[in-house]
Amino acid sequence: MTTSKTPFNRLLIVSYRLPFTIHQTPEGLSLKQNAGGLVSAVLSMAERLGQPGAPVASKIHWVGHADPALQSVDPAVFENETFVAHPVFLDEAVNKGFYEGFSNDLLWPLFHYFPSYASFRESDFTCYQQANARFLEEVLALIEPGDLVWIHDFQLMLLPNLVREARPDTRIGYFFHIPFPNYEIIKLLPRAWRQQLIQGVLGADVLGFHTPDYVQHFLQSVSEVLALPIIGNRVVFPDRSAVVRDFPISVDFAKFNNSGQEDAVVAMRHGYLSLLRHPKLIFSVDRLDYTKGITSRLQGFERFLHQHPEWRDTVTFVMTVVPSRDNIPQYQEIKREIEETVGRINGLFGSIGWRPVVYLYSSLTFTELLALYTACDVALITPLRDGMNLVCKEFVASREDGRGVLILSELAGAAQELPDALIINPTDTQEVADAIHKALVMTPREQEGRMRKMRDRVQNYSVFRWSHDFLKAFDEMMNNPLELETD
Ligand code: G6P
Repeated sequence: MTTSKTPFNRLLIVSYRLPFTIHQTPEGLSLKQNAGGLVSAVLSMAERLGQPGAPVASKIHWVGHADPALQSVDPAVFENETFVAHPVFLDEAVNKGFYEGFSNDLLWPLFHYFPSYASFRESDFTCYQQANARFLEEVLALIEPGDLVWIHDFQLMLLPNLVREARPDTRIGYFFHIPFPNYEIIKLLPRAWRQQLIQGVLGADVLGFHTPDYVQHFLQSVSEVLALPIIGNRVVFPDRSAVVRDFPISVDFAKFNNSGQEDAVVAMRHGYLSLLRHPKLIFSVDRLDYTKGITSRLQGFERFLHQHPEWRDTVTFVMTVVPSRDNIPQYQEIKREIEETVGRINGLFGSIGWRPVVYLYSSLTFTELLALYTACDVALITPLRDGMNLVCKEFVASREDGRGVLILSELAGAAQELPDALIINPTDTQEVADAIHKALVMTPREQEGRMRKMRDRVQNYSVFRWSHDFLKAFDEMMNNPLELETD
């Protein structure tokens, strides 16, 4: 990888969630960094900022929403040796309309092709505008000439343009972590909303999406909604242009690859395998969400058990669902549906000594996750729609042994990068059942052949390459200005 040539002063990250928690230690409260991929990517990106070869010029600033209960905490607590967290405290009613309402009850279902789940409330849009404006205040209080501001995800679509208007010379990046749908979906939004949202993200200099399809969808919306000229991958304004490109997000390959043999992981893996006492293990893990296709996954497994009685008593499906957004009725509904389906399958097929589905509604520690990724024979990942899906990449990166089979939905962004998985359509429960059978009887040789190609891809395009390419796009743009016509 070549080093970015573009000098930036500091890196300011803005996302709805701060990747930190505040912990009580014997010395008092302290900031604890979450171990997510975005944090690692940002850290590696910071090393490449500044003048080539120079050390990181300053700490990384991260702006994000925080619990109002932390308002009274000493600001010094929000800082460690690498990061400074800048909490945005939102009024409770504004946060509800902004986060639960406009973000999770409208944009989320709509952009994942669930328009019938979308609620269009004017009051929510007002809260969304107010919340984006609050984030702007925090950014403006911080920003210095030469900073790079990198804004993330669908909760903050208005922010890039708000920053552009307030500080026209700022370098702004924007990355969209969920699918960007076809224009027919965007058209469901009231005209004024869709104009503001598209104009909002176009405040950035570089806009990133996971796949080439999402880029095409976005550019079509730009033409339809704003009628702006597009040259190649750039949207052209009278005084500047914005680069729109795909950057498929990924995982820290080495971290997953190297952890499978750690003592704690090995011990936990052995523990699980001896507890389960069944020769074959299928595993899945998702945040609770109707987009994840958890019910149709269970129906595929049920069909498999029905059609292949020879596998009964020998295969266990460990299905972990991580609690999420449970204030929203559709999430409560999907949880109920999942629990009913698990109950039905276990009641129908189980025996005194065998539970076909082991269902856990909880988060997993990294050690537990690694133990399950490396213990299982099959990872069953069947979203009805997913911007990328990192679980499948984590699974692949964890399989240093070259074994294991990935069953992956064609509706996850990752399917475009991992064609050596068993690709299925999650609504086709027969296809899911057939894929489970195929995976369980697959020879070690075929498993290794498929796994090798998938691991090569994830190793070569890790989360570091993702953030590096994003940064490099600024260089490309600055070094190749469009010849803009002036009167
Ligand atoms: C997705 C979104 C993120 C979001 C995360 C968790 O990955 O792209 O922006 O933060 O889900 O959802 P939550 O509503 O708990 O923040």
